[in-house]
Amino acid sequence: MEIKNIKNIVIAGAGVMGSSMAQTFAQSGYKVTLYDLKDEYLDRSRNLININQSASVDKKIFTKQDSENIMGNISFTCSKDCFRSADFVVEAIVENMDIKHSFWSEVSETAPEDAILTTNTSGLSITKIAEAVKNPERFCGMHWINPPHIIPLIEVINGDKTAAETSKLVYDISKLIGKQPIMINKDAPGFVLNRFQFAVLREAMHIIEEGIASKEDIDNVFKYGLGIRYACLGPLEIADLGGLDTFYNISSYLTKDLSNTKEVSSILSDLVNDGNYGVKSGKGFYDYSNGRDKEVIRKRDEDFYKVSECLFGEK
Ligand SMILES: NC(=O)c1ccc[n+]([C@@H]2O[C@H](COP(=O)([O-])OP(=O)(O)OC[C@H]3O[C@@H](n4cnc5c(N)ncnc54)[C@H](O)[C@@H]3O)[C@@H](O)[C@H]2O)c1
Repeated sequence: MEIKNIKNIVIAGAGVMGSSMAQTFAQSGYKVTLYDLKDEYLDRSRNLININQSASVDKKIFTKQDSENIMGNISFTCSKDCFRSADFVVEAIVENMDIKHSFWSEVSETAPEDAILTTNTSGLSITKIAEAVKNPERFCGMHWINPPHIIPLIEVINGDKTAAETSKLVYDISKLIGKQPIMINKDAPGFVLNRFQFAVLREAMHIIEEGIASKEDIDNVFKYGLGIRYACLGPLEIADLGGLDTFYNISSYLTKDLSNTKEVSSILSDLVNDGNYGVKSGKGFYDYSNGRDKEVIRKRDEDFYKVSECLFGEK
């Protein structure tokens, strides 16, 4: 498959990620089909895209007419026939290996032999998912970051059987739709972004457990300190700027005090066992009842847009 021949994109799973990914492809002029199991999930997806689009129109990122054109490029279906004419498939269904296997064993038979097949898994093994894929050399990871229509990064992950041309094409199409892809050469759990994200979360919960600082102040460290740095520089650049001799000296007394637990923190497991899933259930580390959930999402998107405009310019 050559990039110029890719016309029809099919996204499986019209949830949080799939819906927003569809509008990103559609914004670049691709015809996109969103596939899900039930009409009600497709209605929810239409609604989600409309909310995202109207936020972009309000922010003058594009016009109402642009928004209508983007919606015109997206179709919604519960019929697996859509895979028959797919040039490029992104799977964004539930994060479960058995369900992904059963999806891919059927879809890789149905899709054209030369279609490019990708999964948006957050960190399941690409090599393992590929065991269910017919002709796995055309299959790789394409890991978008939530919210996909705003965050530039995409991790492109090579499984053991991925052909170099496949991951290169996925990398190139990511660039074409205005994203900032990185190539992950070795299929490691969590790829790269989630390895960092969960190392930070482990230390955050360790700091709470040790009574070193409150949860609010842990978040303040990122909002007012590290976050500003990390929006502009990577950790290795930061170390170079700080001075590697100094970073070496700090590492030699600090590393041994950091959490190295192999277990999920009881703070997290207790919250989850009590049904506190965060914004989606109205309570997590913080309370999101009485409409705070919508307010927090709206503020997040506004702030992300502002930061991304400042750093990368208007889309
Ligand atoms: N939410 C995130 O922050 C995030 C970030 C990056 C990657 N991901 C990954 O993206 C994938 C989707 O996550 P999400 O947050 O969009 O989930 P979601 O629950 O919002 O959406 C998943 C959708 O997939 C549908 N689905 C489930 N099984 C299906 C099947 N067999 N065929 C077709 N549709 C099916 C569901 O009906 C649902 O609409 C997961 O693999 C997840 O790990 C999520």
